[in-house]
Amino acid sequence: MKSLGVSWFLKYTGLSISVAFGMLHLYNKYIERKRRNALEGKVVVITGASSGIGEALAHVFYEYGCNVILASRRKSELERVKQNLLSKKVENTVEPVVIELDLADKNQFELFIQKVHDVCGKIDILINNGGVSHRDSVINTKMDVYEKIMNINYFGSVGLTKAALPRMIEQKSGHIVFISSVQGLIAIPDRSAYAASKHALQAFGDSLRAEMNQYNINVSVVSPGYVKTAVSLNALTGSGDNHGVMDKSTACGFAAEYCAIKILDTVVQKNNELVVSQFTPRLAIFLRQAAPSLYFWIMAKRAVKTT
Ligand SMILES: NC(=O)c1ccc[n+]([C@@H]2O[C@H](COP(=O)([O-])OP(=O)(O)OC[C@H]3O[C@@H](n4cnc5c(N)ncnc54)[C@H](OP(=O)(O)O)[C@@H]3O)[C@@H](O)[C@H]2O)c1
Repeated sequence: MKSLGVSWFLKYTGLSISVAFGMLHLYNKYIERKRRNALEGKVVVITGASSGIGEALAHVFYEYGCNVILASRRKSELERVKQNLLSKKVENTVEPVVIELDLADKNQFELFIQKVHDVCGKIDILINNGGVSHRDSVINTKMDVYEKIMNINYFGSVGLTKAALPRMIEQKSGHIVFISSVQGLIAIPDRSAYAASKHALQAFGDSLRAEMNQYNINVSVVSPGYVKTAVSLNALTGSGDNHGVMDKSTACGFAAEYCAIKILDTVVQKNNELVVSQFTPRLAIFLRQAAPSLYFWIMAKRAVKTT
């Protein structure tokens, strides 16, 4: 009698596990199909595609059948990314296109967008990802550094978007993505230039979204927390030098691939916003809204520790 009970229990548990796995498998297939249906054949421009989140974005959009345009300053790194994509031998994809772009140079934007149209005929998705961070106090940061970071992170994305919009409006479709940061929602010490540029990007994105709705153009603003990339190595100090240090929090951050697939799903689902972050930055965003005095007190303590 006892052994009958055990065997019934095992059979029942085994069946439940098989059903759960079966359903998970079907769900994954459904998600895969949904992503492919939404993305196959789309022309996706990715700035900052030579490294980190941009490189990971190039991989995920390419794997789902997009025609990816890889843009940044370092052509050799973009070629490396392109070769890595080609080595995946993904079926039914168009060869990735490499186009140099310096986001700090506003004279390049019209020509860049024209080049993409000459090669691909259209732009479906523009991902404004290229950017640079900051590590220093306000007192120690030269005005040149403020201008440089604002030019790349804010005016670069704004200028490129403005150059892409007229044709998107004409085709009555498109998707503009801004890779902001949780520091577009909160500001911490020693990041004044970076946080200011990302706050500006959030506001621009919100205004643009409202204006573009009538033209069937989506706008998504993405706010990542810590992601393991070269962002802190490439950050600028107050004097304009490279910070050159891998921050502990960045080293322990999300994988860029994880962040990239979350961004891809935001595009597929046409979501307005995405915060892809660990618990602490989420808590900080909450505190900044719900208990600002407490947030300012914590930041003041942190500023004393870091100077
Ligand atoms: N990693 C994080 O924890 C984190 C968190 C929140 C938000 N973000 C944002 O995510 C984006 C990508 O950063 P990442 O983490 O992947 O850092 P990363 O590895 O340092 O990549 C930065 C990318 O931006 C490009 N870039 C920098 N200056 C440029 C310029 N003047 N013109 C064109 N491209 C330029 C770089 O390419 P070239 O050097 O070849 O030009 C590189 O591809 C940035 O906007 C960053 O602010 C990152």
